[in-house]
Amino acid sequence: MTLSLRLLLIGSGGREHALARALAESPSCAALWATPGNPGIFQYAQAAPVSDTDHIALAAWCVQEHIDCVVIGPDQALADGMADVLRSSGLAVFGPSKAAARIEWSKAYAKELMHRAGIPTAASRTFLKSQGQEALDYLANHALPVVIKADGLALGKGVVVAETHEQAIEAFQSMADGLFKEAGNTIVVEDFLRGEEASVFALCDGQDFLCLAPAQDHKRAFDNDLGKNTGGMGSYAPAAVVDEEVMARVKLSIIRPLLDVMSNDGNPFIGCLFVGLMIDNGQPSVVEFNARFGDPETQSVLSVFDGDFAALCYSAALGKLDPSTVQNVAKGVACTVVLASGGYPDAYERGYDVTGLDDAARYARVYHAGTKVHDGHLLTNGGRVLGLSAIAPTIAEAIELAYKAVDCVHFRDKHYRRDIGRRALQRVEAGGLQS
Ligand code: AMP
Ligand code: GLY
Repeated sequence: MTLSLRLLLIGSGGREHALARALAESPSCAALWATPGNPGIFQYAQAAPVSDTDHIALAAWCVQEHIDCVVIGPDQALADGMADVLRSSGLAVFGPSKAAARIEWSKAYAKELMHRAGIPTAASRTFLKSQGQEALDYLANHALPVVIKADGLALGKGVVVAETHEQAIEAFQSMADGLFKEAGNTIVVEDFLRGEEASVFALCDGQDFLCLAPAQDHKRAFDNDLGKNTGGMGSYAPAAVVDEEVMARVKLSIIRPLLDVMSNDGNPFIGCLFVGLMIDNGQPSVVEFNARFGDPETQSVLSVFDGDFAALCYSAALGKLDPSTVQNVAKGVACTVVLASGGYPDAYERGYDVTGLDDAARYARVYHAGTKVHDGHLLTNGGRVLGLSAIAPTIAEAIELAYKAVDCVHFRDKHYRRDIGRRALQRVEAGGLQS
């Protein structure tokens, strides 16, 4: 049955542009609004005349407009309890409550849950900043490398992989001294995991779940995984490192026990569960959980998704996940290259003219992340400016198309990685699965 849904999307990044397109192109979508939105999102959605930070006013507007389902993109909105306020007004929401989103905004809580549910993850210890001396003694004897994580949300910067004991101690002390404010009041120290990283997104209704195509992100700023960690410089999906066997393990030994323990605690997870994995010899362990879609993985994952995405999210929001809304989670292979402002993830300039998008669209989907329109001109307005997602039958062709699109787009100090998808290509060349 095709529904006729009135939807609101929250967010303003590249991830939300991909969500907006997938929602708007769903047979069940009758109308789509967004706030705060961006110029790309507004190709698919009307601007909702309400701020995303005033949750009460947002809920009132949704009720007045008979919104059937709100899809929440950003982690901060979830951590601030937006889903709770909307649900208490009787609205259906695709996005977890503040208590369930805690798996992202508290790494110590995520560790405690994993421990209780027997989920494979790095061995760890959690310290309060007041336990400084105990932590420093522990770190001084820990095997290297060792990983130090601020407990709370820290814009993706709260993790240090320390190669020496001095670095480990310095990282701990700067977190305890307030580098990430309250996020560093509690600090997790964990073993370093070896292997290849991948991201799996499970759409959850509190009990049941459905996994989208597995993806791989490219977190470092420069080619060959050099430079600083960023929000993500590119992605591809499906990622062949998550083959059927690995995916079966992820479902059975990670997602199923996590959803069970959360629902038994009276804290069911409704929304997109992002499972950040390290895969070593086919054995997946959890590096992190997030309570939302990933960016820029979503741009690749939704580019290959074939189904009624709006109906799928709505069914999950109602607690009755409907897998019949999905034809195929991976129709083809997608490669997304992020175009960033020179200097990102450190300081960068904004306000440069962006041109060539029509040409780029001949090869790839053009997802806006940090752009704005001023006096009829499209300008850069963020660290990550655009994501170009090409879709093809094979990863090799998807990469080629994505870089043809990259060459079409121009703005001053355009920065991008030239090796997005290279690992997947090497896997194909080594005789592994396509993609
Ligand atoms: P997180 O914010 O927890 O995802 O950490 C950011 C990045 O740090 C991850 O994507 C990994 O590349 C790295 N990382 C985090 N934890 C570990 C670990 N235990 N072992 C190895 N690398 C890790
Ligand atoms: N791409 C990683 C994230 O969204 O956290």
